[in-house]
Amino acid sequence: MAVIEKLIINQFRNIENQYIEPKKGINLVIGSNAQGKTNLLESIYYLGHNRSFKTTKLSEIIGYKKNSLDLSAIVDEKKITLKKTTNKTKINIDNTTVASSSKLTKLLPIQIITPDKGFVINGTPKNKRSYLDWGLFHVKPELLQTYKTYNKTLKNINSLLNKNQTNDLEYWYLELTKTARIINENRDKYVKNLTKITQSLNDKYLKKIVNNTEKFEYSLFTGWPKEVGDLNETNIYKYLIKQTNNFARLKFLSCGAHKASIKFYLNNKNESLLSRGQQKKYSLIFWLSQIELLVQQGVHPIVLIDDISSELDKDKTKTIMSCLELLNIQAFITDISSNTSTHQNHKQATFLIDNGTIKTHNSLPIN
Ligand SMILES: Nc1ncnc2c1ncn2[C@@H]1O[C@H](COP(=O)(O)OP(=O)(O)O)[C@@H](O)[C@H]1O
Ligand SMILES: [Mg+2]
Repeated sequence: MAVIEKLIINQFRNIENQYIEPKKGINLVIGSNAQGKTNLLESIYYLGHNRSFKTTKLSEIIGYKKNSLDLSAIVDEKKITLKKTTNKTKINIDNTTVASSSKLTKLLPIQIITPDKGFVINGTPKNKRSYLDWGLFHVKPELLQTYKTYNKTLKNINSLLNKNQTNDLEYWYLELTKTARIINENRDKYVKNLTKITQSLNDKYLKKIVNNTEKFEYSLFTGWPKEVGDLNETNIYKYLIKQTNNFARLKFLSCGAHKASIKFYLNNKNESLLSRGQQKKYSLIFWLSQIELLVQQGVHPIVLIDDISSELDKDKTKTIMSCLELLNIQAFITDISSNTSTHQNHKQATFLIDNGTIKTHNSLPIN
């Protein structure tokens, strides 16, 4: 079970040198605007991914006028450190240097829910794919290699298409079909399992906020057109050959596993027609389903939720918090102070953040 027991943040945006001891369950982070709530979540995400969900520019993340950042944590009794300067990254696990950040990701499976990343409902295909593949990766880490091979093959194909060397494509097409089939099969299975979980989650924990008249459904969009038929290697290969002239004109492979996504519907209505509040609510339900699925498989992710009560009323916020408690995972949830009364009943640790300084707070003021 992934639990951050201790966390040190150094020179990460406006957080200069802070140490906290989070609890195993829900950790509430309260602060008014621009105090560093999102920065704190971003730093935890950063430690688990060696990248941000907000920017690719390290210079934006390192504290102003500083030239390095340092994050370290004790996670399940392992000591993790990540030190970055503008030209160097150093990752240590139990004082041993590791080369790949996927080791961090495995130790720190993090699910982040933030308007900065966009909601999954009505999100970009890229965003949806990243949640899909995040879930799949933690259920089946060995697929990472398959994805890497797919991406390498795709790169070669695109490079040949770009140079109009279509004669050399056949070999790479054949290579691509192998990984494309495996990725699709696994995504399909994952989404089907997840759909069942969503249903059981609604029945078990979310009755109060999901009524029977709301039919929330989603399915995998494979990234391949219907015309391909069954996504076996022969069909994919035949389709690629047939469409080569089109791809050559575009200079890239315009369909495939790299274009996969998820389509969401509420009462048969397309996701783009839902209100923002509905998009947030159902995004949370989708994410909770991913967490429940992982918990069932023995992986307990760490959940980060930013600005929980913006766009969610008190009842929904309460229900989601209780659900997280029942899932028995560690969560970091940020909120602005005026909404703290919503969370009075929950067992949790509370931290107050003010201008980048984090303080533990034992009893919340009742307002
Ligand atoms: N690289 C940086 N160095 C120092 N401060 C930063 C850096 N990047 C952002 N900030 C500051 O962080 C604050 C915003 O923090 P944020 O976590 O987004 O606030 P909120 O509590 O509203 O989520 C702003 O005051 C901003 O100036
Ligand atoms: Mg924020």
